[in-house]
Amino acid sequence: MSRRQVSSTRRLVDSGSFPFSGALHSKSRSSPVLSVALVLLGAFLLFVYAFSGSGVFGGARETVTKVEGDFSCTSEVHGALPILKKAYGDSMHRVLHVGPDTCSVVSALLKEEETEAWGVEPYDIEDADARCSSLVHKGLVRVADIKFPLPYRAKSFSLVIVSDALDYLSPKYMNKTLPDLARVAADGVVIFAGYPGKQRAKISELSKFGRPAKMRSSSWWVRYFVQTNLEENETGIKKFEQAAAKKSYQPSCQVFHLKPLT
Ligand SMILES: *[C@@H]1O[C@H](CO)[C@@H](O)[C@H](O)[C@H]1NC(C)=O
Ligand SMILES: *[C@@H]1O[C@H](CO)[C@@H](O)[C@H](O)[C@H]1NC(C)=O
Repeated sequence: MSRRQVSSTRRLVDSGSFPFSGALHSKSRSSPVLSVALVLLGAFLLFVYAFSGSGVFGGARETVTKVEGDFSCTSEVHGALPILKKAYGDSMHRVLHVGPDTCSVVSALLKEEETEAWGVEPYDIEDADARCSSLVHKGLVRVADIKFPLPYRAKSFSLVIVSDALDYLSPKYMNKTLPDLARVAADGVVIFAGYPGKQRAKISELSKFGRPAKMRSSSWWVRYFVQTNLEENETGIKKFEQAAAKKSYQPSCQVFHLKPLT
């Protein structure tokens, strides 16, 4: 008897009717509650789908990623380039960028007229795309551990821009690296650093960076500059703020302007 039932269901499926309809039919006969539940589940899934599409859930997801640290100060540098150009003018002609994903910054700078750009990538370049490999090949981007002195002569660059990289250095290494960045700059160093409690590296990136990032407060940085005899460039600060206000630009990172070593 039961064998016959199974074969009749199979025949329904074989004869081309939608497989689920066969299943639903046989089940709805035995349990109407189940079919109601299935309809409700379908309605719920449609509801979730509609809302995630309309951005109600999508928006929330975006905020979460940001808090989790999908956000970097290197991406902030891209947004700040027009402001830096306004503030530094001629000093934007020979630029060195130091930080993760430096290929993206160097490419953006090279698109500007009369701008030469170089980059130092402090960590291994993973999955380098063709553009990045070509920059490395041309010697414009190099991978170098910034705990050691940079292989450039004093005042090789008009402006040095550093993003994210310093957040990963302990004070011991920062004591060597930051003055070295000021050494290779002729007109100044611009530092993009994370705000405490805001940016965090993804767990997957921790091994790459060696140690978790330590986001320091702006008062920590200012005290640090004084201790290490690095002077902030008041003109640079003022011009940057004026240009930022004009374009209603609000950086999501702390931005500091240092004078070069004299
Ligand atoms: C870094 O340099 C400052 C100022 O020269 C000094 O006070 C501090 O002890 C140094 N820190 C380390 C860890 O070497
Ligand atoms: C300070 O910053 C300005 C850009 O606003 C730059 O032109 C100038 O060279 C810098 N001065 C010093 C002493 O670093």
